[in-house]
Amino acid sequence: MTERILGVPDADVARVRDAATDPARVGVVLGSGLAGLADLVEDARAIPYAQLESIPSAPLVAGHAGSLVLGRIADLPVMLFSGRIHQYQGVSAHDAAWPSRMAAAAGCDTLVVTNASGGVAKDLAPGDIVLIADHINLTGTNPLVGWPGPPGGSPFVPMRDAYDPDLRSLAREAAAGEVVPVREGVYAGLLGPTYETPAEVAYVRRVGADVVGMSTVPEVIAARALGMRVLGLSLVTNVAAGPGLSHAEVLQAGRDAADRLTRLVIAILRKL
Ligand code: HPA
Repeated sequence: MTERILGVPDADVARVRDAATDPARVGVVLGSGLAGLADLVEDARAIPYAQLESIPSAPLVAGHAGSLVLGRIADLPVMLFSGRIHQYQGVSAHDAAWPSRMAAAAGCDTLVVTNASGGVAKDLAPGDIVLIADHINLTGTNPLVGWPGPPGGSPFVPMRDAYDPDLRSLAREAAAGEVVPVREGVYAGLLGPTYETPAEVAYVRRVGADVVGMSTVPEVIAARALGMRVLGLSLVTNVAAGPGLSHAEVLQAGRDAADRLTRLVIAILRKL
């Protein structure tokens, strides 16, 4: 894969390699309020994002700490991204895809992305967990813009089965084993940072979205371009465009459901 899409200098790869006891196989991006998983990493070594040259400079949002945590979960060498970069912070889609680029550069073959979302489908309620089956990119841009593709290849990365069907069935098995209810759904990714208007929610529902959020899409596109398998889990923190919606409500709902989502992610990692 080309330098251009990775955009991660050797110094960062070396920093990660030196901190980890074993090279990470799986990257896990932690969404709003889900940072607790980082506390469960064995042999954890944390690298503050600020110590990595390739981290895009963007103001961090409350609830999004910023460190890369290396170690093991269920015997699997992992790298956890505690804090992600959103396009609404004023960065490009390429920058927002930094966790995927960093994970790929460090040698991960699988990316697990978690996020908080607003429920669009009428049968979804706060606390529900959605296994992302597909997405609709409504951000108006793409992290591969300007990329000529890999040497000898093209930038036209197929997005069919971007959310790996085998990983989804493995996640369903893990969910059944943990007695954590999950259902599959389509994630609409918007730029933000405003929450959606009721008309926008009606629109994304009509075009096939079940949940809506402001992250994930750039990371997943870049991960696919870099050949990683992707699993996406979305925690519904609120009804999209619901009354009284606030960032505090989203963070609190994330914390309330975090135990279930954490258990599910660990059960999934155990099966990888
Ligand atoms: N909309 C967009 N992003 C979100 C929401 C929402 O309702 N809830 C959590 N992230």
